[in-house]
Amino acid sequence: MLFPLCLLPLLPLAVVGQSVSYKENSGICETTPGVNQYSGYINPEKKSNDTFFFWFFEARSEPDDKPLTLWLNGGPGCSSMIGLFTENGPCLVNNDSSSTRFNEYSWNNYTNMLYIDQPFGAGFSEGRNIDTLDDAAKYLWQGLQTWFDDKAFKKYASRDFIFATESYGAHFGPVFIQYFQSQNDKVDSGDVDGHKINVKKLLISNGKHDPMIQTNSSIAFAMDPPGYDPIITNNTLIKEVQSAFEKDCKPALDKCNDDGSDNDCNDAVKVCTRTIQVPMYGNRDPNDLRVSDDGDESEETDDDDYSDAAGATYYLKFVRGNKSKIGARGATFDQCDSGLKARFSGAGETGRSAMNQLAQIVEAGKIEVLIWVGDADIKANWVGVHEVIAQMPWSGNKTFADTKMSTLSLDGSDVGEYKVVDGTPGITFVRIFKAGHTMPAYQPKTAATVFGRFINGDAIGGSTNSSDVGDSQPGNNPDEDDGALSTTSLTSLSVLIFMSTVFTLL
Ligand SMILES: *[C@@H]1O[C@H](CO)[C@@H](O)[C@H](O)[C@H]1NC(C)=O
Ligand SMILES: *[C@@H]1O[C@H](CO)[C@@H](O)[C@H](O)[C@H]1NC(C)=O
Ligand SMILES: *[C@@H]1O[C@H](CO)[C@@H](O)[C@H](O)[C@H]1NC(C)=O
Ligand SMILES: *[C@@H]1O[C@H](CO)[C@@H](O)[C@H](O)[C@H]1NC(C)=O
Ligand SMILES: *[C@@H]1O[C@H](CO)[C@@H](O)[C@H](O)[C@H]1NC(C)=O
Ligand SMILES: *[C@@H]1O[C@H](CO)[C@@H](O)[C@H](O)[C@H]1NC(C)=O
Ligand SMILES: *[C@@H]1O[C@H](CO)[C@@H](O)[C@H](O)[C@H]1NC(C)=O
Ligand SMILES: *[C@@H]1O[C@H](CO)[C@@H](O)[C@H](O)[C@H]1NC(C)=O
Repeated sequence: MLFPLCLLPLLPLAVVGQSVSYKENSGICETTPGVNQYSGYINPEKKSNDTFFFWFFEARSEPDDKPLTLWLNGGPGCSSMIGLFTENGPCLVNNDSSSTRFNEYSWNNYTNMLYIDQPFGAGFSEGRNIDTLDDAAKYLWQGLQTWFDDKAFKKYASRDFIFATESYGAHFGPVFIQYFQSQNDKVDSGDVDGHKINVKKLLISNGKHDPMIQTNSSIAFAMDPPGYDPIITNNTLIKEVQSAFEKDCKPALDKCNDDGSDNDCNDAVKVCTRTIQVPMYGNRDPNDLRVSDDGDESEETDDDDYSDAAGATYYLKFVRGNKSKIGARGATFDQCDSGLKARFSGAGETGRSAMNQLAQIVEAGKIEVLIWVGDADIKANWVGVHEVIAQMPWSGNKTFADTKMSTLSLDGSDVGEYKVVDGTPGITFVRIFKAGHTMPAYQPKTAATVFGRFINGDAIGGSTNSSDVGDSQPGNNPDEDDGALSTTSLTSLSVLIFMSTVFTLL
């Protein structure tokens, strides 16, 4: 894999031969009259066979006035069709796996939405083997440049860019954004010919940020998941696992974190998954502690597994069957590519932390960050994600740790709680009640409301009426009656971490 890496700096940018091909208005999924959609492939470098599958939906109203949001699922190796069809896209697939229904909580109510399968090999995308975050960042940047070069999408190049991602996306988001920013600097200095990508906001949903803190927190969470009965009550087992953390897992992760080799980091993931995480899942679905494990052993080590508690797999047959209508190809479609995951693991990338990169973005204060987590997720449990933000190296970490949660109420129900560290640096953290790993699949209204407020720069908890989401209700301005709650300004960093993933998934 070193060979393509060495060649990367030589890749011509914005050259003739790059291309985007797509089906326009396939009629699949988005059915709102007048709302355009495009799905197909980006080929960032014609002389290669590397392709990114993308699906773009215009905002349902006033698309010319709305930002561009990129949604990426995690894995590494999982398709962003998971998000599109089960979490936040314009349709939901019914349990017959062939018909769809309108999703009133689709995020294209608030923004133009771009879904991309990446790295090459994920979902409908194909191409060279990628095994590092740095390479994934470079090729995705190249893919976005190619997409912005196409006449149909050129107008989005200058839009505010929202980076929204989930689970292992806690790595994609910060690492990719830092690469985009370094490319922006090169565009400014004339060293690179390309479009600057104006990343304004970052949303991380149920993120897997840091193996050390989050593996450790999985023990405390299993003993006492706030709001739920304990997952593990066997004190002998707890003691064994606590001891395994100190004796086996922590030293392995220390070795990885101390500039460890790819093997050191891969080994650390294996030992921590086996000795800590899997025992702490107990007999529960790691995606959702409210659901019993289905007894499928592969589930506990395999990222391909998604809970079907929220109807997560009905879309698979649908999207496979409608492949040609949406301009997709490839012999098979899997929601997660196990080979890709294995390559990233082999390169040590799943054992390394992405916490410091997030901290740097927060500290720089140029991007609003929102971190949210469904509170029934075991894999990326919310206590661990909260701990990551409280411990990562940024100047607001103590204020964050000391800030009390406020209740998030919508339409007469308490749907979660949140805290905001305002100003620069700043971050917004939301715990969403009764939601598993893919949070929006479980609480679509809450997800859409919080997301819409984030996009529009409104206070997350500023109104108890879910209709109060900026543009969707012209005239309402939740900022006005914000009261005791702090409002994140557009220039502050509010980090929404959708805490859906721990280490083994997405
Ligand atoms: C691209 O695919 C074609 C057809 O499968 C193959 O002949 C060609 O060698 C491939 N090119 C590269 C650069 O891999
Ligand atoms: C599908 O949903 C319908 C309506 O809610 C229900 O009656 C039916 O039993 C479900 N079928 C399956 C296979 O789950
Ligand atoms: C989203 O937009 C659609 C149509 O544009 C509308 O019917 C629906 O009510 C909106 N959803 C919300 C939550 O405002
Ligand atoms: C692990 O968590 C316990 C509390 O649950 C804490 O005392 C300990 O310092 C943590 N260890 C690490 C390495 O984070
Ligand atoms: C508790 O855990 C220990 C250690 O894993 C095990 O030997 C024992 O059988 C467990 N007890 C029960 C009641 O499951
Ligand atoms: C393709 O989508 C259409 C609806 O647009 C649906 O009726 C059909 O069942 C789908 N095909 C398959 C094979 O799922
Ligand atoms: C908070 O961040 C600072 C750097 O700004 C770091 O030195 C410190 O260790 C962090 N605090 C905790 C509790 O980790
Ligand atoms: C929320 O606001 C909408 C529009 O302003 C209004 O129609 C609705 O009655 C309100 N709902 C509640 C529960 O107050």
